Amino acid sequence: MTKIIFPKEFWWGAATSGPQTEGRFKKKHANIFDYDFEKNPERFWHEIGPDMASNFYNDFREDIKLMKKAGLNSVRTSIQWSRLIDDLEEGTVNQDAVDFYNAVIDEFIANGICPVINLHHFDLPVDLLHKYGGWTNKHVIGLYVKFAEQCFKLFSDRVSDWFTHNEPMVVVEGGYLYQFHYPDLVDGKLAVQVAYNLQLASSLAIQKFHEINQNPNGKIGIVLNLSPNYPASQAKEDIAAAHIADLWQNQLFMDASVKGEFPKELVELLTKDKVIWESTKEELAIIKNNKVDRLGVNYYHPNRAQKPYYSPNSLAVDWLPNKYFANYQMHGARMNVDKGWEIYPRALYEIAKNIQKNYNNIPWFVSECGMGVSNEERYLNEDGQIDDDYRIQFIQEHLYWLHQAIEEGSSCFGFHLWTAIDCFSWRNSYRNRYGLISVNIHTQEKTLKKSAHFFKNLTENSGLELSEEFFDKFNKTFRF
Ligand code: BG6
Repeated sequence: MTKIIFPKEFWWGAATSGPQTEGRFKKKHANIFDYDFEKNPERFWHEIGPDMASNFYNDFREDIKLMKKAGLNSVRTSIQWSRLIDDLEEGTVNQDAVDFYNAVIDEFIANGICPVINLHHFDLPVDLLHKYGGWTNKHVIGLYVKFAEQCFKLFSDRVSDWFTHNEPMVVVEGGYLYQFHYPDLVDGKLAVQVAYNLQLASSLAIQKFHEINQNPNGKIGIVLNLSPNYPASQAKEDIAAAHIADLWQNQLFMDASVKGEFPKELVELLTKDKVIWESTKEELAIIKNNKVDRLGVNYYHPNRAQKPYYSPNSLAVDWLPNKYFANYQMHGARMNVDKGWEIYPRALYEIAKNIQKNYNNIPWFVSECGMGVSNEERYLNEDGQIDDDYRIQFIQEHLYWLHQAIEEGSSCFGFHLWTAIDCFSWRNSYRNRYGLISVNIHTQEKTLKKSAHFFKNLTENSGLELSEEFFDKFNKTFRF
């Protein structure tokens, strides 16, 4: 047996978001997914939309009790802009939403769970897209800051841990490059502007937070999906492709959020290609002066990059970042075949080393990591529990590498699994189940999986013992 013990105050928890759990009950505005589902239900897995989600709006007290049973000491969720704000232009609040979020926050605290609150989890109110073009328009940034201000005013007396966005790069890619989020555009130049605007919005929210936060322990950060880009070979074209992919996918938000400046090399490249964002000196000064206190890192799978396999001239649109790189699936990789993602736990160690070396070891935590599996009923045992040994192995392997980095001085302060209770996941809806707790989407009955008991043990012992059997399986191909 090998023991790995984590720091005392470590966050052991899980992440989710408002739109993926609450359901649309009493919500005045539709967000882009609510609208997309109303118009195009066939785009969603089994035509299951966000209306009910996992019924957190009604079930939150029972759900939080289950989370406690799974040993979570901290949970990230988000406040829905489309729920909290009544008049999107004025930024006035909806009283039912205020009461709801107050009750949720109080319930977490009463159960000894630290509420970690994020503001924007892809869920732009759709009216702002239709009226203004959403994140392409700087007016929307101002409206987001009004929403953020209300959140800090109303809840920062009890909430000390805040994040401005979840995975802003997914907003850019999903909505403006690769068509997996509404409005499904393919427009490289617009995508570049959206990236900039999201960063500016984050920096302005941070500025506002520091003006009005009521909590002496209050801290604010951003949650980024950071997947290292590994070159397909040592050929210089592949190395260059992986480098540019990294600049675009990782360093863009990372540098701007942590160092207060966009990577120079990326700015030069976008300028040369005539797609650089519109910015002003004043805005760049805001970004410079409002860095994050800490970072959340979502990590699911590595990225592998090779030189683009089509000529830049064959691009159907004027400009795409893929002019410089192609991501691909490595032949023979360990796969979670349900989700189609490679499993590569060592990347967590490399992410930690990168933060340590290149980002002044800024405090950070794993804000999402997890394994989505379809048809989990396959693993139901006679007692009605899902025996998700694959998830336990997956968590152990990632913790093994994270622990290694912490031993070497990484300032990682927590690990949040995606997710506590199986939740609605955009167009994938309930296809991939990630939770420690399963939900029957027809009855809303919620049941602890085997991994929930494992997680509770982990929290209670601030770590775990890794068996011979674990090391036997470690790094070997396993498929589901
Ligand atoms: C994360 C997102 O990147 O992936 C979540 O932050 C999302 O919102 C999760 O639910 C899982 O996505 P999917 O598509 O595998 O269900």
